[in-house]
Amino acid sequence: MTPIIQALADYTKWGLARWHTPGHKGRMSLPYLLPEFDVTEVRDLTPKSVGEDVIRQSEDLMAESFGALRTRYSVQGATLPIMAAILATASPKSRVVVDRIAHQSVHSALILGNLEPVWAYSLLGPGGYPLPVDDKDRARLIMTTHPEAVIVTNPTYEGLSYSLTETQKVCRELHIALIVDEAHGTHFAGHKGFPESALGQGADLVCHGAHKTEPSLTQSGLLHIHPKVMPQLVARVGEVWDMLATSSPSYLLLASLDYLQSIRHQDSYHQEWMSLAERMRAIWTTCENDGLFILQNWWERQEKGLADPAKLTVIGDGSRLFDAIKPFGVEEKSDPLGISLIVTPKDDLSILMQALKQCPRTVFKPQSRRFWPRARQNLLPYRAWHAEREWVPVLSAVDRIAARPVIPYPPGIPIVVPGEVIDRDVILWLEENREWYRRGTGDLKGVERAFEGLFPGKGEEGLWVVKDRVS
Ligand SMILES: Cc1ncc(COP(=O)(O)O)c(C=O)c1O
Repeated sequence: MTPIIQALADYTKWGLARWHTPGHKGRMSLPYLLPEFDVTEVRDLTPKSVGEDVIRQSEDLMAESFGALRTRYSVQGATLPIMAAILATASPKSRVVVDRIAHQSVHSALILGNLEPVWAYSLLGPGGYPLPVDDKDRARLIMTTHPEAVIVTNPTYEGLSYSLTETQKVCRELHIALIVDEAHGTHFAGHKGFPESALGQGADLVCHGAHKTEPSLTQSGLLHIHPKVMPQLVARVGEVWDMLATSSPSYLLLASLDYLQSIRHQDSYHQEWMSLAERMRAIWTTCENDGLFILQNWWERQEKGLADPAKLTVIGDGSRLFDAIKPFGVEEKSDPLGISLIVTPKDDLSILMQALKQCPRTVFKPQSRRFWPRARQNLLPYRAWHAEREWVPVLSAVDRIAARPVIPYPPGIPIVVPGEVIDRDVILWLEENREWYRRGTGDLKGVERAFEGLFPGKGEEGLWVVKDRVS
């Protein structure tokens, strides 16, 4: 039996449109994808800590195309760049300002590094989708808390971006490292029609999930270092990187990044993205005129030029939207109140239009209740993670301190992180959304059945909480 290969064959059999990662959409010929290229460090392919090697040559060409001092290739998605950036800049027990809507990789690094997060919260927009953190609010928080590093998530999963002007200014003045998780915005740099890239705005360390929108292979990522970064930090990033990265990188993944850097040097690549931006903006408007609510178009009206045209989120009844697009293609993410698609230059937009025509026109009512819970942090994530813990049924977890995160995936933003108090909003969220996130493209991590020996038992589901009730 080969269950994974079988499932892949089943998935591709119908030839449906793919409005999800990776950016090549399975519709391009990938000249480097050859069985004989599947090697790792051998002979001339071996990376050298001193002197030139082929990876460094290619990384430097990529850096040049982004205007970075140094770029590193990741075969561990955006997760490795994010973790390396955080652990290289903040020392144990130091304070860091972090956007609470960060991906689980950021939250994991906070635990690994024993860091003290000061959360920068964002408002929730239509459909309960988190908006980017307000730049001025974050800058104020930085000025009052003097952290060692600032970790920003921009754009959001749905491609909503915000200016980093004030955050960057205060970080520069106070000599604080500014890390930006721009996992969803690799394609922003170098052409018009997209939000300005974090590197262009002066961020020190910028993390990209290249595979999300670009035609590189799944699991390829980038870390860029800004030309103004101090040499000591550049060296430290390299040291931490070497601790976290595999010693057997896939050269197929590296070749796919090499291919990306080569097309980034071609005008036709930039033309393709610029043309997509124009066509998608027109589609947002057509949809809205036709009675659909498009999150990105709404954000464009608030903040001109700051929504990513490679994203399209239709808001309404999530189940009905899911059913409507199902015969045409596969979504990136579905939520109770909407469906999100990733659209790249490799997509056939006429199929997209056909699918959108079938979407139900619901009268959209903004929610009265906050969708993404915002619990009180009572213990440092590191302490809660290492504390003695117990499993309790979901409803008995109210007012207890979480020992493990609860994460709907996608988007991978924890509902509750270790050390936060599980309040009634968290429980309510779980009761309303638990089943949803387990269907289709989703998963819900951290809600488990009681353990019997080594394996999850049967029966009621529960959460891991800190055993000691006194914090
Ligand atoms: C905002 C954000 N950051 C980081 C990541 C991690 O990226 P990767 O899966 O490439 O490691 C994701 C993945 O979905 C994400 O949404």
